[in-house]
Amino acid sequence: MALNALGRHVALVGFMGAGKSTLLPQLAERLGRPGVDIDEGATQFIAEHGMDAFRMHELQRTLFFLEGREPGVFALGGGAVTAPEIRDELARSAFTLLLDVSADDAWERVRESDRPLAREEDAFRLLHAERDHLYRAVADATATDLDGAVLACAGVHYALGALDRLGELVPGDGPVALVADATVMGIHGPRAQQALGDRLGSLHEVPAGEPAKQLAVAQRLWSELRLDRGGTVVALGGGTTTDLAGYVAAAYLRGVAWVAVPTTGVGQVDAAIGGKTGVDLPEGKNLVGAFHWPARTVIDPALLETLPERERRQGLAEHVKTELLAGRSLDGRGAAAYKAALCLRDPHDRGPRQWLNLGHTFAHALETGADFDLPHGEAVALGLLAALRLSGRDTAPVVDALDPQPVAADRERAWQALLRDKKRTGDAINLVLLGADGPVVEPRPADEVRAALDSLIS
Ligand SMILES: NC(=O)c1ccc[n+]([C@@H]2O[C@H](COP(=O)([O-])OP(=O)(O)OC[C@H]3O[C@@H](n4cnc5c(N)ncnc54)[C@H](O)[C@@H]3O)[C@@H](O)[C@H]2O)c1
Ligand SMILES: [Zn+2]
Repeated sequence: MALNALGRHVALVGFMGAGKSTLLPQLAERLGRPGVDIDEGATQFIAEHGMDAFRMHELQRTLFFLEGREPGVFALGGGAVTAPEIRDELARSAFTLLLDVSADDAWERVRESDRPLAREEDAFRLLHAERDHLYRAVADATATDLDGAVLACAGVHYALGALDRLGELVPGDGPVALVADATVMGIHGPRAQQALGDRLGSLHEVPAGEPAKQLAVAQRLWSELRLDRGGTVVALGGGTTTDLAGYVAAAYLRGVAWVAVPTTGVGQVDAAIGGKTGVDLPEGKNLVGAFHWPARTVIDPALLETLPERERRQGLAEHVKTELLAGRSLDGRGAAAYKAALCLRDPHDRGPRQWLNLGHTFAHALETGADFDLPHGEAVALGLLAALRLSGRDTAPVVDALDPQPVAADRERAWQALLRDKKRTGDAINLVLLGADGPVVEPRPADEVRAALDSLIS
């Protein structure tokens, strides 16, 4: 079973009428990959050459694309998975995504079409029933829409009540080490433990908040862990817990699997997705870490109901950031899917993933200038304000949602932190800004950036 589409083709399978051809170009665009409808021209081919010749043609054509090296997105014909050769190749090289459709919906969609297998309703329904178990046997995941497809490709399972299914959602069957801070362990730990059942091997409590992200805490966990290579670290908590536990998993025994179960808004739209893990050093935030993609990210939006108001606001700032980048309003699932797609496109942060830093150059500078006595979300809200101003955009989306107010901070320290954070090209500073067609990384004159930073400080 493939856990995600990192470095693998995405193969869309499903019955005729599932919507594979519609979803294909959209998913390919979101993932920044070529998309090919392998089934294109099938109806005409069958009319001209018959079904037997078509199956042979389909086999060769499908294997040709699946054997290609550059990861792509492919829509397979409805009957392609009847060939064992194709099933084997899917298991080897693809993340196979079943686009689920009921027999009723499928029939409604294709009854008027010219498809040769959709001429007679009873036969159509019989074929749907026959194929269904085959699709489920080859599928690594199931989706019904674009955001669901993107999330599945990133290994993200997003569902109300998902926490209660944690036992089955943690891949494999090895033991689990559960990591959480005392607050989260107290509120959601019992349900997580119950859901893990026999697989729960050990419990590990870590400090709440940023103090969790320290090498000393990581070292304690490394000493406590008794997992072998088949074990899994499960991190239940906010971004500090998942950053720490993910890093602990990345280095323990040179890497064991981990599962992120985010319990904050920051975690559910941002920190628990995409595999950036790490700890802080006295010299600065996130200076030691690893890219270690979680074997699964389990998002249960109901877990946010117990969040204190202050933490809720932190998540809102990252949510507004994501909406500005996407250029449209998003629900929680849509925001998670936006981040997931950027991370799949650019897992190692060399290109478009950097857009997620919108507002963060200013935010990190303010946090340093305020001696880290400034919640990240408030700093991000101010940073977004500066980014909108420098982009020549209306600031209303940030002002209305987040109402950022200038904060007390040491201007010179903040400025020095900003200069350390960002490479300068000559007298210009590179920033993520919003251009006419979406996010861009652009140089801005240092004095303009300094003035923008100063305007955020009271
Ligand atoms: N890895 C990434 O890509 C990435 C992205 C964004 C942010 N981050 C990191 O995330 C961290 C911030 O994460 P955070 O904002 O989630 O903070 P956090 O992990 O410190 O959690 C905030 C507080 O909320 C409490 N809490 C968590 N879930 C709760 C719940 N459901 N009910 C009640 N209380 C709950 C925690 O005990 C904690 O005190 C920062 O260190 C940041 O660098 C990482
Ligand atoms: Zn942030």
